[in-house]
Amino acid sequence: MTAARHSMAGVLVAVAVFCLFSGHPCAGETGTATFYTPPYIPSACYGYVEQSEFLAAASEDLPWNGGGACGKKYKVTCLSGTNLGVDVPCKEGRSVTVTIVDLCPAGCRGTIDLSAASFAEIADPDEGKINISYEEYATYID
Ligand SMILES: *[C@@H]1O[C@H](CO)[C@@H](O)[C@H](O)[C@H]1NC(C)=O
Repeated sequence: MTAARHSMAGVLVAVAVFCLFSGHPCAGETGTATFYTPPYIPSACYGYVEQSEFLAAASEDLPWNGGGACGKKYKVTCLSGTNLGVDVPCKEGRSVTVTIVDLCPAGCRGTIDLSAASFAEIADPDEGKINISYEEYATYID
């Protein structure tokens, strides 16, 4: 019992140290997600080269970082809807991992604009816009 608690504390310390030195925010950040529909090419990151259907466009807030976001993977989790139109806006699974392929330009309505397939993994598309938490894939440990 005590040994188990100690090793759990050790894991937490290890994670905290990892977060400190990796230069990435460790706790998920919160924002909103919308979705967009095909065609997904050309994209700002990959031109006419098609990527997997689990892709997304980053707003400046993600951040897009002048294209530095290209190819980064984010785990996006549905927290709630943003209007009261849908009874259960978030789906069971709630999380999807997407790859950034594009910029969601100024006027973007969310922090991240998911492909329709990615959005449908975590929420009812009728909701249109959802509250999310998100973190860069490399920084979370399952
Ligand atoms: C969505 O997030 C915003 C901002 O944090 C909050 O004001 C709003 O209540 C949230 N919506 C729901 C349905 O939780």
